[in-house]
Formats: sequence, C-alpha cells, structure tokens
Amino acid sequence: MKTVKIHLILSCFFIFSLLSCNQQKEQKIEQTVNVQPEIVLDLVDLQSKNKLGKDTVVTIVNDPVYHKTKKYQAVNALELLKNEIDLSKVDIKNTLIIFECIDGYKPEMPLELFLKTNPFLAFKDVDAPKGSNWEKIIKNGNEMNADPFYLVYTSVSADNQEYKWPYNVIKFRFESKNKNIKALQPKDDEKAMKGFALFQKQCITCHAINGIGGEMGPELNYPKNITEYWKENELVDYIVDPASFRHKVKMPTLGITRQESQEIVDYLKYMSEHKK
Ligand code: HEC
Repeated sequence: MKTVKIHLILSCFFIFSLLSCNQQKEQKIEQTVNVQPEIVLDLVDLQSKNKLGKDTVVTIVNDPVYHKTKKYQAVNALELLKNEIDLSKVDIKNTLIIFECIDGYKPEMPLELFLKTNPFLAFKDVDAPKGSNWEKIIKNGNEMNADPFYLVYTSVSADNQEYKWPYNVIKFRFESKNKNIKALQPKDDEKAMKGFALFQKQCITCHAINGIGGEMGPELNYPKNITEYWKENELVDYIVDPASFRHKVKMPTLGITRQESQEIVDYLKYMSEHKK
C-alpha cells in the first residue's frame, strides 16, 4: 500500500515536472523569436490606408535641408511606431532603425536614440507654392522635392550628426545592430579593423559590401572589389574628394583625411579576400 502511494506521488511529480518543463521551452522559443523581429513599416501603404495618425503642423527652426525656418504638415513618428509595433517586444538597445529612401539611400541610427526625441514625418510643406507639396530642394544644381515623406525633429539641432533627416523616405525598417557588423567585420586583421570602423560610419549608408549596406552608390566588393580595378593612390584621392574626379558627382565630400581614406582602402583590400 505504502509503495503504491509513493509511486503515485512520484509519478504525479514526474508528470508535473514534464508539464512545467514544456512550458518553459515554449517561453524560450517565443523569446528567441522576439529578439530579432523582421519589422518593416511601409509608410506609403499606411498612408493609403489612412493609418498614419493625426496630422499636425510643426515648426522647424534652421531646417538642415532648406536652411531656414520651415513649417510642415506632419504626423508624429513615435506615435506611429507605437501604434504599429509592440515596442515592449523589441530589443531596443540592439536595434537600428533604417530609413529607406526612393533612390536606395538607407541612413540608419540607433533606435534607442530615435525614441528619445520628437521625430515627425512631414508630408507637406506649408509654404509650398500652389499645386505642389514642397518648396523645391536644390542639390548639386538639380531640383528635387521631398515626396513622399521628410523626417524632421522639433527638439534636435540640425548640427547633431547622430540624427538623420532623410527626405524621399518610403519605409522604416528595424534591423539587429549585430547583423551587419558581424558579417563585414575583419576578424583576424587589426589594420583592417580601423578602416572598417570608418567605413561603417562614413560609407555603408550608400555602399554595400557583399550585398550589405546602402544602394545609392555601387557595391564595392563583388563580383570585383573596387581595389581590383582602381589604382590605389587614385582611389584614396577619390574617396577624399570625389568632385576632383567627376563633374556633378553624387558622392559627397565627407571631410575625411588622406590617412583615413588609406585605412578605408586597406579595409577594402582586405575584403577582396573575403567575398561572399
Ligand atoms: C551619400 C552617399 C554616399 C556616401 C556616404 C559615400 N558614397 Fe561613394 N559613391 C556614391 C555614389 C552615388 C557614387 C557613384 C558615382 C557618383 O558619385 O556619381 C559613389 C562612388 C564611389 C566610388 C567609385 C566607384 C566607381 O567605380 O565608380 C568609390 C570608390 C566610393 N564611392 C567609395 C566610397 C567610400 C569609401 C565612402 C566612405 C568614405 C563613400 N563612398 C561614401 C555615394 C556615396
């Protein structure tokens, strides 16, 4: 009798622990799924469905694109994010927000920083001439407009380089901070590490390596690495001052030194041995 009782108790215990074990497993799986969600907000699609939220008029003192004080009709970008995404499930510290633009330009910034301020998605310039949404932007002698969205901030100085003010924005994308870094990081070469840090800061918004990065400028590693068809010293000079090579060049002069440019080229040479 006694042994039966003990058996019963033991098997109950066993079943119970099995159950709780399973529960734990399920929780774990859920968590790993939540760490790296593929989150993309298609802003144009949301607009067409009237899901951008309430619009308001914001005043931007010293607008960095128009270089004067501007007023826009805009929606609050934080409210929009909060409405569309459950931020409590996002690993905010390790996530980048990427602003995808029409021409393939993809500036990015830490999501944590973005959430600390007052970003607005402007969709119409209050001072635009009749029949147009925007006052013209003049860039490199070309006339452009900011359609469909221009990202502005009411509480950030335009001098603060950490904040991005892209126009022609079509999507917000969340990406894990480590995803890009790990794939492009030189693992066994200290010299190339220096250039990699610079490349990440100055170039990756516009250029991809092994398909990772911006698309406004050409891919720099495959099928041919740029150092395989450019003379090294000219490449270094070009990166410092592209306009001294090409009339109406689209690549900006970034204010980097010749030495920094050499370090970037050393990194690019390293990557020629590490094609995807
Ligand atoms: C704002 C975007 C942008 C940034 C930032 C940028 N580039 Fe470019 N880059 C371009 C574009 C666009 C081109 C295509 C040529 C042109 O300028 O019209 C280009 C061209 C180049 C070329 C010449 C490729 C060829 O064979 O035609 C090289 C090399 C290059 N970039 C390297 C760099 C490096 C290195 C950095 C970082 C230090 C950098 N770029 C930063 C946009 C950019």
